[in-house]
Amino acid sequence: MRIDIITLFPEIALSPLSESIIKRAREKDLVEIHAHNLRNWATGKHRKTDEYLCGGGQGMLLKPEPIFAAIEELRTNTSQVILMTPQGKPFKQATAQNLARADHLILLCGHYEGVDQRVIDTLVDLEISIGDYVLTNGAIAAAVVTDAIVRLLPGALGDERSHQDESFSDPNMLEAPAYTKPNLFRDMPVPEVLLSGNHKKIAEWKKQKALERTRANRPDLLKE
Ligand code: ADE
Repeated sequence: MRIDIITLFPEIALSPLSESIIKRAREKDLVEIHAHNLRNWATGKHRKTDEYLCGGGQGMLLKPEPIFAAIEELRTNTSQVILMTPQGKPFKQATAQNLARADHLILLCGHYEGVDQRVIDTLVDLEISIGDYVLTNGAIAAAVVTDAIVRLLPGALGDERSHQDESFSDPNMLEAPAYTKPNLFRDMPVPEVLLSGNHKKIAEWKKQKALERTRANRPDLLKE
């Protein structure tokens, strides 16, 4: 798989993808990740990438010309072009699983008020939002999306089971609380059932606790 990130801040996108699991996935050639500065495709003395909004309004918008030039240069027959934007579809684990099967992703990062609509209408296959908040730039979102995809590539996680469990588990339920040693820390014991060796009881306890946690933290998931 290859991922190209187009942004005004390639270092912001790349730095979280240069450590730990994603770093090793790149070293093992499971994925090739490139971050490009949009300014490389801007023309004129000042290599301007942004412009005022037509019709007025606060802020600046990324101009279409450098974006068209960048994508026309980078895309192939198998590329999917994805725009990072708070106006996009919510990014879910299922989105990551779908995109992990792609051959080539081009992640286009918005900045300021976003990108010219003609880019979306003619170049973009999918608009993605990583959450209902506004970041200073899409490079942070691109790093998040890339991380979630690359860790799903076969061979990326040392212990293959670590995400097999995840993908079989219920996407509408959070995970149960988890404990490790020591069995007693300060005045806080590990719940007795987890030390009982009774796998049926442990499974029931986990299910119950997962439900309680989901009800408290993500009641929206239970409605889905
Ligand atoms: N750019 C700015 N905010 C964003 C968000 N929430 N998701 C994706 N891209 C963004």
